Amino acid sequence: MSVVKRTFDAVIVGAGGAGLRAALQLSEAGMKTAVLTKVFPTRSHTVAAQGGVAASLGNSTEDNWHWHMYDTVKGSDWLGDQDAIEFMCRKANEVVVELEHYGMPFDRTDNGKIYQRPFGGHSQNYGQSPVSRSCAAADRTGHAMLHALYQRNVRANTQFFVEWMALDLIRDGDGNVLGVTALEMETGEVCIFHCKATIFATGGAGRIYHSSTNAFINTGDGVGMAARAGIPLEDMEFWQFHPTGVAGAGVLITEGVRGEGGILRNGSGERFMERYAPNLKDLASRDVVSRAMTTEINEGRGCGPDKDYVLLDITHLAPETIMKRLPGIHEIAMQFAGVDPIKEPIPVVPTCHYQMGGIPTNYKGQVVVPKDGNPNTPVVGFYAAGECACASVHGANRLGTNSLLDLLVFGKSAGETVVEDFTSGNLSLRPLPADAADVSLARLARLESQTNGESVFDVGLEMRRTMQKHAGVFRFDALLKEGVARIKDVAERAKTTEIKDKSKVWNTARIEALELDNLIEVARATIVSAEARKESRGAHVRDDAPDTAEFPNGRNDGEWLKHTLWYSDGDRLDYKPVNLKPMNDDTKPIVLAKRTY
Ligand code: FUM
Repeated sequence: MSVVKRTFDAVIVGAGGAGLRAALQLSEAGMKTAVLTKVFPTRSHTVAAQGGVAASLGNSTEDNWHWHMYDTVKGSDWLGDQDAIEFMCRKANEVVVELEHYGMPFDRTDNGKIYQRPFGGHSQNYGQSPVSRSCAAADRTGHAMLHALYQRNVRANTQFFVEWMALDLIRDGDGNVLGVTALEMETGEVCIFHCKATIFATGGAGRIYHSSTNAFINTGDGVGMAARAGIPLEDMEFWQFHPTGVAGAGVLITEGVRGEGGILRNGSGERFMERYAPNLKDLASRDVVSRAMTTEINEGRGCGPDKDYVLLDITHLAPETIMKRLPGIHEIAMQFAGVDPIKEPIPVVPTCHYQMGGIPTNYKGQVVVPKDGNPNTPVVGFYAAGECACASVHGANRLGTNSLLDLLVFGKSAGETVVEDFTSGNLSLRPLPADAADVSLARLARLESQTNGESVFDVGLEMRRTMQKHAGVFRFDALLKEGVARIKDVAERAKTTEIKDKSKVWNTARIEALELDNLIEVARATIVSAEARKESRGAHVRDDAPDTAEFPNGRNDGEWLKHTLWYSDGDRLDYKPVNLKPMNDDTKPIVLAKRTY
């Protein structure tokens, strides 16, 4: 197969919020920038973000970035790096106001300011009471954000390669990153994008689970490519289950519903969150709410004939409020749950939503790996931002609305770093090795010649079911151990999957097979890292690490206050320290404490 070569200053893989925000920085600085995306930019998964973007603007209630930083560190169960968290919370107002100036249609308060609503885990005065911090465009904030960013990129002449799938990262013998190989879906042709800088903004991989709020395109492509190219993955054991996916369908019902006053009720109509989180109740952090719901269901207090869901009740809200602030939720409830939420509560269950871990980066968006005794050595030419990256601001559990903030702050920061490196001459177009496309060509050739293999769907289904059962909301030692063996077996089976359709043009079967390779890397990283972490922290709660006086909430800081690094080669694990020191000397560190809400 012939391989075309294209040369750019930079290639960005992914055109969701992080990719578009980074691209804007590069294009406005005059860099020749290619953005590769599997779908049209405004259909990227950021479009599904509903409830808002966090910033301590204080438009409705008093607020400041110190409180936001405290909430984020606490939400992360102290696994987040405090320099990166400080950076994100300090930058929040700037990036949100910038978006407003790009034309983002935020909802407005009566006096014309950006409308803000309460969200889980966000508080005033270091945990005392809920705060309105989530800047919202009704319940379609991600949708509005993508359109504002895309239009701004069109103005800046960013070059989009739409319906292209990146296949593999290209590195030279010294480990420098030189670009990517990619497949044009329309033609089936393979191309090398040879560049001085490569930014991954490929989003999450929630499709490793059976029940997920994630789009079908969320197959961990950047994470899988990085892992295959020898980059370790950080903290992959931590997956967020959003409390309110529509029961049976998984579609997201924004936490903004509870921000507007929605209440979770069990089978007896009880507002059960009062027992689990007496202070913030339904607006406690997501991991806490998801576990409370799962406990209610497991202990027989669920709803419906099988008692396998709980109810999200907004029937007490004024219909005008629902239609003004939550119009999308009204529609989703009608379409996917078959209920009119103005009259009836919505059946919900916790559903896989977000990966806290990813490709290790620093707050500048540089991808970092252990080298020569420094655990955070930048990889020349390689940057990442958004859900595929681990900066690490979310640690063991992300707060709602901090993901849209993460992708704005770190998309911009990665873009700024690339522009700085480019203009200062730190980046050069390094020579391509002769075998630059060989890994990708071998993967394609294998699919071309494979016969008598299993279907991609069957192997993928086994992966999704295994992950759901063995690495879910609660984790059990025996199930994790068995899960590791099963996922390794699934990974072996994935090596011999067969596609019947061998055509080149718009061959979606081939795309799905290539995506499965990436999902498998993510699933292996997740379950191996989870089995190894013998404590409970944030979203990772084990049966054999219960809440005791010595280990609050099962957390063992003596042994486990460290980031996991998983290497694809041999499922090797390594660890590196958490940065408990904020960015500025005059910022007080948030000291370790037991998490209660
Ligand atoms: O509930 C939501 O609207 C989701 C927000 C988020 O994941 O940040």
